[in-house]
Amino acid sequence: MNQGLPSATARHAAFLRAAHQLMDDPRIFDDPLALRIIGAEAEKALRSNPEYFQTDLLRHLRALIAMRSRYAEDGLAEAVSGGVRQYVILGAGLDTFAYRNPYTENLLHVFEVDHPATQEWKREQLKNQGISIPASLTFAPFDFEKETLAQGLIRAGFRVGEPAFFSWLGVAIYLTETAVMETLAFAASSPAGSGIVFEFSVPLSYLNETQRARRKELADRLAAIGEPFLTFFDPSSLERDLRRMGFGHVEHFAPKEANLRYFKDRADGLSVGGSGHLMKARV
Ligand SMILES: C[S@@+](CC[C@H](N)C(=O)[O-])C[C@H]1O[C@@H](n2cnc3c(N)ncnc32)[C@H](O)[C@@H]1O
Repeated sequence: MNQGLPSATARHAAFLRAAHQLMDDPRIFDDPLALRIIGAEAEKALRSNPEYFQTDLLRHLRALIAMRSRYAEDGLAEAVSGGVRQYVILGAGLDTFAYRNPYTENLLHVFEVDHPATQEWKREQLKNQGISIPASLTFAPFDFEKETLAQGLIRAGFRVGEPAFFSWLGVAIYLTETAVMETLAFAASSPAGSGIVFEFSVPLSYLNETQRARRKELADRLAAIGEPFLTFFDPSSLERDLRRMGFGHVEHFAPKEANLRYFKDRADGLSVGGSGHLMKARV
C-alpha cells in the first residue's frame, strides 16, 4: 500500500459490491449499505456508466467480490449458531457487516482491523454518509507487516481466551508470506469453535491462458496504483500448513465449487473466474 494513503483496492472492491447490488439479478450477496457507503458521487458514476462494468474482467471480479462476502457471512452464521461471539474482519476496507449486524441479540462483537490510513478514510466515509457506528463495533488500526495480530487485537480489547470467527477477504495477496502465515497461526491458536474464511490466489501455473491474461491485466493495473500482488499459494500445501498450525477442519472452496453453489443456472451467465480461491478452516 502507498504509505499514508487509504487503500485504492478497498475503494474498488466497495465500488464493485455496490455495482453488484445495482446490476445483477438475482444478487448472491445482499448488502443494503453497499451503495450508501461509497457516497453519492461514486453512486452517480456507477449509475451513469453501467456498460463499463460489463467487460469479462469486471464481471468476474464483481462476482468474486460478492461471492467471497456471501461465503464469509454464511460461515459466520454457522459460527454464531455454534456460540462464537467475536467477529474479526481483517483488512475490512468498506465492508458494511458491522453496520447491519443481525446478531445483536447474540451480542456478536465486531472488530474491524485495517491499515490505519484506510480505517481513517472509512470513518470519514461513514460520517459523511450518516452511517452510525454501533456499540457492538471496535476499530483496531493495525499494519500486518509491522506487528502481530495478537498485539493489534489485544490492544483493541479482543478476548483472546474466547472463540472468534475471522474473515480475511482480498488481503493476503498484498502481504508478504511471513505476514500471512503469522496471521493464520494466530487464528489457529484461538480456542475451539474458532474459525476463519480467507481468500488467496493461486500461482499462474494453475491458470489457463485466458485466466492468465486477465490476472496479468489486473496485476498490472494494481501495481500501477501502488498495490502489487505479492503472495500466491498452492492450495494443497496451504491446506497442509493450516492443519499443521492446529486447524482440525479445512475446506478449500475453489472457483468451480463457488460457481456450482452460488452461480448455477443464471440467465446472465455471471460467474467467478479462476483466480480467487477461498479457504474455510475451523479449530
Ligand atoms: C482489496 S482491499 C479488501 C477490503 C475488504 N476486505 C473488501 O473485501 O472489500 C485490501 C484491504 O487490505 C488492507 N491492507 C493492505 N495491506 C495492509 C497492511 N499491511 N496492514 C493492514 N491492512 C492492509 C487495505 O487497507 C484494504 O482495506
